[in-house]
Order: sequence, then structure tokens, then C-alpha cells
Amino acid sequence: MHCGHVHMYSLAPSTFWGHRHYELEVEPNLRGPEIVTMGENDPPAAEGPLSFRSLFGLDNLKISPVAPDADAVAAQILSLLPLKFFPIIVIGIIALVLALAIGLGVHFDCSGKYRCRSSFKCIELTARCNGAPDCKDGEDEYRCVRLSGQNAVLQVFTAAAWRTMCSDDWQGHHANVACAQMGFPREGCASGRAVTLQCTACGLRRNYSSRIVGGNVSSLMQWPWQASLQFQGYHLCGGSIITPVWVVTAAHCVYDLYLPKSWTIQVGLVSLLDSPAPSQLVEKIIYHSKYKPKRLGNDIALMKLAGPLTFNEMIQPVCLPNSEENFPDGKTCWTSGWGATEDGGDASPVLNHAAVPLISNKICNHRDVYGGIISPSMLCAGYLKGGVDSCQGDSGGPLVCQERRVWKLVGTTSFGIGCAEANKPGVYTRITSFLDWIHEQMERDLKT
Ligand code: ARG
Repeated sequence: MHCGHVHMYSLAPSTFWGHRHYELEVEPNLRGPEIVTMGENDPPAAEGPLSFRSLFGLDNLKISPVAPDADAVAAQILSLLPLKFFPIIVIGIIALVLALAIGLGVHFDCSGKYRCRSSFKCIELTARCNGAPDCKDGEDEYRCVRLSGQNAVLQVFTAAAWRTMCSDDWQGHHANVACAQMGFPREGCASGRAVTLQCTACGLRRNYSSRIVGGNVSSLMQWPWQASLQFQGYHLCGGSIITPVWVVTAAHCVYDLYLPKSWTIQVGLVSLLDSPAPSQLVEKIIYHSKYKPKRLGNDIALMKLAGPLTFNEMIQPVCLPNSEENFPDGKTCWTSGWGATEDGGDASPVLNHAAVPLISNKICNHRDVYGGIISPSMLCAGYLKGGVDSCQGDSGGPLVCQERRVWKLVGTTSFGIGCAEANKPGVYTRITSFLDWIHEQMERDLKT
């Protein structure tokens, strides 16, 4: 995970690591140890009332002033051994010392690996902080979290390296876990002030002024994350840019056309006729392994571009929502695409957009609406009275909501019965249900 923007609040009351001062206070008139104030960096006192010797009663130890003569002892031992064994013994000792040295050397040299501190065992770096104890007492599962650099960026040791925490799926209780793994008790985070991170600058429209919007036709820079996914040069589906190389779309767009080489992606454009717009090749396609073509469950896919996009005011990523982030029913969000402007019509040459309020799954599952086919990982948006909706060709494209000035990808256009019909609003794949899936695919790709 690569993190660009990081906002950090203190995790716990600051701890002063450099000089720890221990103070021992006693009533002044009582006889006893003197008041000793000692910093960790202070040189130890030569001899004092609380010296190491006195503490361990070494003062009472009697040490004989005369040591036995070592040479005399050696001569005595040698005289006991027959002389003919002498060379064998010497060679044996040398061999033993050599074997010990080589053995120890091999054990100490854990190059590229991690050496358990309490034994000479070497374990793979990836086994460190992997949640399973590999060293004695699971000591390899400690020191897995750190605050790095001047800004105290939260980092976690995982998959053999320190990685900066990405906030996309951060939850409040992780603050307690992170604090606990740094040795702070739960109360250390009772302030509720947690680390917040934003892993990429996203969801902002640069230099976009809403006054140029006329009707439903979009202007450049209005939906800079919008992508046109084209199969053999023909627009088939929409997509949303989330990083320089990843575009989110719908599984039904790619399921039967699982041919990365036949797809191109166009970004930073409004009119499909305006060529040449920058056209990107596709390196790989990943659709959800539990995608259900019949019921359109898990209708989500990712396309990885062959090369990274250069962001500018016409090309920008949209933010993913945070896990458990809630977008209330009735909130007005926006959908965009080059889809048909009437049911059964052709794809539109220009990018259109529409405001669509979110509809609760309960209402959307009403027997007069979709009668129970809307699963919790789907989301409805539009009008029960009809008239405004996404349509064929908009699939895979974004349903975005603005939260504190930032645009977030809340849904991916999935299906509907007809388009803009009464009681048949648009159905979108609920992105908050697939954050782990998206992160896992992107992280797996990073590791390969
Ligand atoms: N499945 C359609 C597509 O492939 C999108 C349908 C959206 N329909 C709707 N009524 N909102 O483009």
C-alpha cells in the first residue's frame, strides 16, 4: 500500500523516551538512602549507599588474595596424559573449536531472515507478524506496529516489510489494537483520537466550476474519474478510476468478454467522438469469484491498466468510501455515463449525469418494486415515480456521493428493469460491501 496524504492525531499522551528520570524520595531527617536522581544517560555512581555490591551483599564476600598457579595445574594435568595421545587431543580440540565456530556462524547469520531473540532459530521474514507464533513464546509477533518519522505515521510490519497504514478500512477500535500492540493499555486510546490516514488524494474536482453545467450533459472536469470501457473500440460500459492503475467496473461487463487484450479504456473525455482521447491498454481483468450472472450478485470487477494514468484536472481518482461508512436514504448522489438516453436506445455520444436519491433496501425490496431480489450488497437509487435513471451502457460506471467536499464511490451501475420506469429504480453494487475485496485484489497485485 502506498500512502500519499497522511493526517495524524496523537494516539496517546506523549511519552518521553530520551531521559527517563527515576526519583526516590525519603523524609529528610530519617537515616537511609540518599535522594538519588538518575537519568538513563548519567554515568553510574562509583560507590554509593545503594551500590550494586551492597544490594547483592557482595561486601561480605571473602575473596582469597592468592590465586592457584595456573602453570602448575597444567603441568599436573599433562603429566597424567601419555605423550603419544598429545597430537590427537590437539587436533580434536581444534576440530571442535572449528565446528563450534562454523555452527554458531551459520546460526547467527540469518541473512534475509529474522532471528528469534531467545534462540538461534531463523524464520522467514514473512513469518514475522503474520499472526502465528514461530519463535518461542511468539516473540516474533511483537513489535509489529510503529509510529514512524516526524509525523508519527502509523506503520504495521506485514509481509516482510514495514507498510504505512492505509485508512480505507480503518475502524475506531483499531486504535485500541494498534495502541495495545505498541504496549499502551486500552486506556491509552480512551481519548478516542485516532490515527487518520488518507492513502491517496482523491475525490476532488480541480478547477471545476458548477456554473458551466447545462442540462444533463457533463462538462470536462465534472466527473474526472469516469472511464469509458471499450471492447474492440466500442463503448460497452462505464468505470471509475480509483488509483493510477485501477478502474472499478461491473462483473457483468467483463464476464463473457474476459479478454484483456480486446479492451481499451478512455479517460478524461466527454465526447466519445472526440478522438484521439488518451486510450489505455488493459493488463488484467479481475471479476468477483462469486459473481452470479443470473441474480447479478457480487457484480463487481477491477481492470488494471497496462501503465499508470497521469492525473490532471480532467483525470482524477474517486475516493473509496470507508468501511461501515453509511450513506443515508434520500441522500442525493450522482450517476454518470455514456449509456442510452432512453430504454432500448443507443449509447450517448456525450457523457451524461443525473441526480439520484438513495433508496433504502427495504423500500427497494417492496413487492411493488423489486420484490425481494435486492441483496444487502446491492443499493438502489433513483425515483419511484420514474423519469430519471441510468440505462444500458452506463453499467460499471459510478454512483458517487459527496461527503465534506470529497466525492466517494458509493455504487457501480449494475441493473434495472427497463430504464427510468416507475417503481423500477437503478440497482447498483454497494461498494462498502466490497472494500475488502478491492483492497485484497490490489494488495495481491502489489505482492506479485
Ligand atoms: N445493465 C445495464 C448495462 O449493462 C445497466 C442498467 C442500468 N439500468 C437501470 N435501469 N438503471 O449497461
